[in-house]
Amino acid sequence: MPAAVYLPGTWLLCLLAAPWPAQPEKLFHIRDHSDMEESALHRAEPVTDLRSAQLFLSKYGWTEGSSGDPGLVKAITKFQSFSQLPVTGQLDEATLAAMNRPRCGMPDRQPMSKVDPLPLTSGTGPSAKVRKKRFLQLLSPPARRQEQEPGPLRARGQRAFSRRLLRWRLVGEGYSGQLSIEEQRFIFRLAFRMWSEVTPLTFKEDRLSPAALIDIRLGFGRGRHLGCSRAFDGSGQEFAHAWNFGDIHFDDDEHFTPPPSDKGISLLKVAVHEIGHVLGLPHLDRTGSIMQPNYVSQETGFELDWADRKAIQKLYGSCEGPFDTAFDWIRKERTRHGELVVSFSTYFFRSGWYWLYENRHNRTRYGDPILTPIGWRGIPSRDIDAYVHVWTWRRDERYFFQGNHYWRYDGDHDRAYAEDERGRSYPQLISEGFPGIPSPLDTAFYDRRTQLIYFFRGSLVFAFDVDRHQVDNSYPKRMVDAFPPVAPPNHPFRDIDSAYFSYAHSAIFFFKGNAYWRVVNDKDRRQNSSLAFNALFPKEYISQKWFDICDVHPSTVKMKEQNADRSIG
Ligand SMILES: *[C@@H]1O[C@H](CO)[C@@H](O)[C@H](O)[C@H]1NC(C)=O
Ligand SMILES: *[C@@H]1O[C@H](CO)[C@@H](O)[C@H](O)[C@H]1NC(C)=O
Ligand SMILES: [Zn+2]
Ligand SMILES: [Zn+2]
Repeated sequence: MPAAVYLPGTWLLCLLAAPWPAQPEKLFHIRDHSDMEESALHRAEPVTDLRSAQLFLSKYGWTEGSSGDPGLVKAITKFQSFSQLPVTGQLDEATLAAMNRPRCGMPDRQPMSKVDPLPLTSGTGPSAKVRKKRFLQLLSPPARRQEQEPGPLRARGQRAFSRRLLRWRLVGEGYSGQLSIEEQRFIFRLAFRMWSEVTPLTFKEDRLSPAALIDIRLGFGRGRHLGCSRAFDGSGQEFAHAWNFGDIHFDDDEHFTPPPSDKGISLLKVAVHEIGHVLGLPHLDRTGSIMQPNYVSQETGFELDWADRKAIQKLYGSCEGPFDTAFDWIRKERTRHGELVVSFSTYFFRSGWYWLYENRHNRTRYGDPILTPIGWRGIPSRDIDAYVHVWTWRRDERYFFQGNHYWRYDGDHDRAYAEDERGRSYPQLISEGFPGIPSPLDTAFYDRRTQLIYFFRGSLVFAFDVDRHQVDNSYPKRMVDAFPPVAPPNHPFRDIDSAYFSYAHSAIFFFKGNAYWRVVNDKDRRQNSSLAFNALFPKEYISQKWFDICDVHPSTVKMKEQNADRSIG
């Protein structure tokens, strides 16, 4: 069984064991700490009365420019409803407490959160205009920047970056005084990685390119900071804010902590939230969402929830892409009561990476992908063509295929056999181990119903009888004959990427590019007897059945490697 299965459930746990970089790099800038001298921590003015509440409501987008009592009551009412408080319209204690909780500096309500696709150029009615204006004052970067850097990636009024690779930098004049620079950078790498795990976006730390090429700049400051038009308020309340065009500022008067500390404010959580804004997300009032405006104190692990994923994918699309192979890994386990049960995990392989897919949760394991050699030892590090699990009363053998060779995998010791119990050494030539089977293959899978291995190459299928150790007499066949289309001509015809029996769906799937075809199973045929045996239903998109199988930037590989090595050792 692959080591990966033994990895801790969440990579936040991995973080506990993750070593900080062994050799800290040389600082190219040493922060001037003069502003921190005689630093009795500057505290934010609490919201205590009507006047400060009015300021709060206006600052965070709850008043619509209307003054006087009716407007204020309306604003309080809306704020209470958004904050899931009893709606009284009064400035009661619960409401004051909610206003004084640590929070993000971005308004809760802004044109970006409306359905209006181009909030800066359209909108009707006087209130929309007023709000638009305030939105511009509060959130647009200083005019200077807009002129100097005319939105290389995100045109004015657009809600999303148009490029898929975004560069980020922790700016030299904006280091935190509380954590080491390595810790700060490490936490930001993790934060970006969390978004890249659920979108087609990748993020790269870039410490060298000219500033104009950096898409997202992060920095810490206290009070007036980093030339920003909006000052921080001291410790408490506002802890960070983000500008439309890619600046994220953290209030260094807050007590930021690295994971997994449960004290203070998690810098990782705040960074993930602010990056969400820079990418175009508004505040969401949904429990569990990282985009809630208030800081929700730390749990040991946290992750982007369903609403966050769907919101960001509305802007950037879902992850698509062909797989080298996909399969369910079966294992027998004893329950606490000593019963023997069979369980399975689903794996997807692509370009040297693999993901464990949690079917129950509709997503990959938190922290995936991982480099193939870390979880699967002794097989080629990339471009696996097929995985086959021959599983009968007498046999239980697992094979990987690549090019002209195949490897037998030892699940108990979690590595490919150098030599198995029959004295056969690996890798072997496919032509020797499976006479009559061509190579290289497109893919293969073992069908337990018929005890045949189906091998695919080009437009042909070869069914290999594992008991008689030869290709079944009636094969090879054309794929379109062995697996006919339910609705001709909707069929992959040739060159499929992967064929896989899913225990979660009790069905065989063929993958090709971004699409899959499901093979008719017994249940389908009981319901509709005119469906042909092994026919293929019309194609669907992989990303609509298996969610968020996303590549990440290779620069984040290193830390995964360290984590996984730790866990295995
Ligand atoms: C997973 O997705 C399917 C649709 O593909 C849906 O029916 C199911 O409820 C989802 N499960 C969870 C836990 O979100
Ligand atoms: C049964 O399958 C055939 C295709 O083989 C299809 O034309 C027909 O509509 C299906 N019937 C039902 C009730 O789904
Ligand atoms: Zn926010
Ligand atoms: Zn700022």
